[in-house]
Amino acid sequence: MTARSSQRVNPVKRPDEIEALRVAAEVVSGVHKMLRERIVPGVVTSELDNWAEEYIRDQGATSAFKGYVMGDDEDNPYPATLCISINDIVVHGIPGDTLLKEGDIVAVDVGVVKDGYHGDCAFTYGVGEIDESKQRLLETTVKALYLGIEQAVPGNWVYDIAGAIQKEVERKGYGVVRELVGHGIGRSLHEDPAVPNFVPNPFVRHRFQNQKLVGAMVICIEPMVNAGTYKVDTEDDGWTVRTHDGLPSAHFEHMVVVREGEAEILTNHIPEPVTELVT
Ligand code: MF3
Ligand code: CO
Repeated sequence: MTARSSQRVNPVKRPDEIEALRVAAEVVSGVHKMLRERIVPGVVTSELDNWAEEYIRDQGATSAFKGYVMGDDEDNPYPATLCISINDIVVHGIPGDTLLKEGDIVAVDVGVVKDGYHGDCAFTYGVGEIDESKQRLLETTVKALYLGIEQAVPGNWVYDIAGAIQKEVERKGYGVVRELVGHGIGRSLHEDPAVPNFVPNPFVRHRFQNQKLVGAMVICIEPMVNAGTYKVDTEDDGWTVRTHDGLPSAHFEHMVVVREGEAEILTNHIPEPVTELVT
C-alpha cells in the first residue's frame, strides 16, 4: 500500500476474525496455485485476470483490488482483479493485451474479500527459463520476506521486520522500495500498522511509526526489491509503478499472524520453484 492510506483499527484480531482471515487467505493462495501452471510464454495478462476473477467468484469471494481507490483519487479506481507487474514494473501493473514471454519475471498480486475479511498475497514467477540475475533477485526477495517474517513475534517492533528485510536486500546490492509498504489487514485491505521494508530515517518516521508487535496482530509483509536503484516512478495511468532505472523488480507478500515463538503464515501455499528456496 501507499504511505498514509491505512485504516486505524486495532491490529490485534479476535480468534474468530483470524479464522475468517484464514479463509480469505486460502482463497488468494488458491488463485496462485491455479495460475502457476498458466504462467507460460504466449499467455495474455488479461486472460490471467479473467481466470482469477472466475475462480474468486466460484469461491464466493470478490476482488479486493477492482474498484479500489487510492487516497482521494476517486476518478481512477483500480480497473482489474489482479495486479500483474512484469520485469521493470514494480507493482500495480494493470492486466491488458501484453503477452508473457520466455525470460520475463511476473509479479502477480491477488486480493480478495470473503465474508467481509480480506486476503492479500503476491508472488513473482519466472516465465519459462529466466537468467541467473533474475533468479538471484527472486531468491533474495523471498529470503528477505522470510527473514522479515521471523521477526514477527510478540515483543519485537515493526522496525525489526523492516531492518531484517532491508539488511538482506542491501547486502546483495539491491534497492528496497520506499514508496510502498506492507500493512495490517482485516475488514479493510489496508489497516494499521504500516510495515515498511526499510528502517525509516528520522524525517519520514512519522509516516511509518514504529510499533511494538503483539500476539494475534495480522499483517502483510511485502518486500518489493529492485535489481538497481530503489527509486520508482508512477506512470500517467496513476497505477503502474516502474523502476526508475528500468532494471527488473520482484515482489512477494504473505499474510502472517504475529505469534509467540513463530509467526504463522496464513497464505502458506508456496508454488513449487520457490519451495526449495525457503527451506
Ligand atoms: N498488495 C498491494 C497492496 O497491499 C496491492 C494493492 S492493489 C490496489 O497495496 F489496487 F488495491 F491498490
Ligand atoms: Co498488500
